[in-house]
Amino acid sequence: MNRNILVTGGAGFIGSNFIRYVQTQDPTINLVNLDLLTYAGSTENLKDLPNPKNHHFINDDICNQVQVENILREHQIDTIVHFAAESHVDRSLKGPDAFIQTNIVGTFSLLEAARKVWLIEQKQNKDTVRFHHISTDEVYGTLAPNDPAFEETTPYAPTSPYSASKASSDHLVRSYAHSFGLPITISNCSNNYGPHQFPEKLIPLVILNALTGKALPIYGDGMQIRDWLYVEDHCEAIWAILQKGKIGESYNIGGDNQPPNIEIVTTICALLDEANPSSEYYPHSQLIKHVTDRPGHDRRYAMNIEKIHRELGWQPSVDLREGLQKTVTWYLEHTDWLNAIIKEKGYQNWVEINYQGRENQ
Ligand code: NAD
Ligand code: TYD
Repeated sequence: MNRNILVTGGAGFIGSNFIRYVQTQDPTINLVNLDLLTYAGSTENLKDLPNPKNHHFINDDICNQVQVENILREHQIDTIVHFAAESHVDRSLKGPDAFIQTNIVGTFSLLEAARKVWLIEQKQNKDTVRFHHISTDEVYGTLAPNDPAFEETTPYAPTSPYSASKASSDHLVRSYAHSFGLPITISNCSNNYGPHQFPEKLIPLVILNALTGKALPIYGDGMQIRDWLYVEDHCEAIWAILQKGKIGESYNIGGDNQPPNIEIVTTICALLDEANPSSEYYPHSQLIKHVTDRPGHDRRYAMNIEKIHRELGWQPSVDLREGLQKTVTWYLEHTDWLNAIIKEKGYQNWVEINYQGRENQ
């Protein structure tokens, strides 16, 4: 098991970090990376892999079930780690269609391919294969200030087209375990940050805007709470689940870091001030601007991570200040990456769609 891994969405943020992480753990593992290269995916994220020889990139859609079946047979895939998704809540509010297609239909296509090749054709020993599905804490909905953190048994209550589509995909994955005996695991993770994150998400967007003297848009009062996790910690947790996780189980993954958004943004400003005291935008916090809130904005997420700690011995190792420092440093040292990414695939167009017309609050 875990010799020939199919990673879907491996040219995106977390998937590309995962490929890098696996290659540092075991460079002999064969990694097949199936990615459609949507606006969020880029081969820029796959430069400098520790062992490019054992990474095979295929530019295609997870909805192409025949292609997925062929990949499973041809590469004798024993493990699928399924990251590919439309992942941005704001985009799901402007155009939900792609979320339904990739997150629901795409997951269904992968499950069907796995059922056919692994369980019906029995191309692999069905006791050693694994379908690991990457999901989110957002499936649990939103918390009031004093509510306990989400547990694996918390009922699903998604609120956006993004979280509803991820919840649907989780249900489909569980149904394939229950109905067909497909060996699955699921992880539900909180907000990730770190190198290679597309600058539509809060942390890289704030870094990019601060570097270029643009407004740092805070939705509403900025007191919304997320549970931030450094991306390498997420990769380590997924690896622990692949090695030691119990078939059929879900694991919550989180960072035990729950500051309000405004605190994340002021910390990034302080780190940029330290890194560049002679910047014309110093102090960078002068760029903060409160703007119209996201419709239906979930107020608070928090993850109870006792299960993965107790059963698999995993806990986050990077605290928020250290993680933000590493992230800011990475972006400062990779302006070529940032420039290449924002030139690709309509980034400015998205910025206009999402931010034009938001009033100052
Ligand atoms: P991302 O948007 O950076 O990357 C998604 C990748 O999937 C891109 O490379 C894209 O090209 C690819 N893709 C999209 N549609 C595809 C399709 N139809 N076929 C093949 N490839 C396709 O996303 P991310 O932030 O790396 O998130 C990865 C996974 O982790 C997602 O499933 C997401 O729901 C989940 N997740 C993300 C976070 C987070 O904070 N980013 C937190 C928890 C869970
Ligand atoms: P985001 O990074 O989009 O992740 P998610 O919506 O999956 O949590 O947003 C993180 C938080 O930051 C969320 O509460 C929305 C907020 N936010 C802003 O205040 N301004 C922004 O420009 C963006 C993109 C997000």
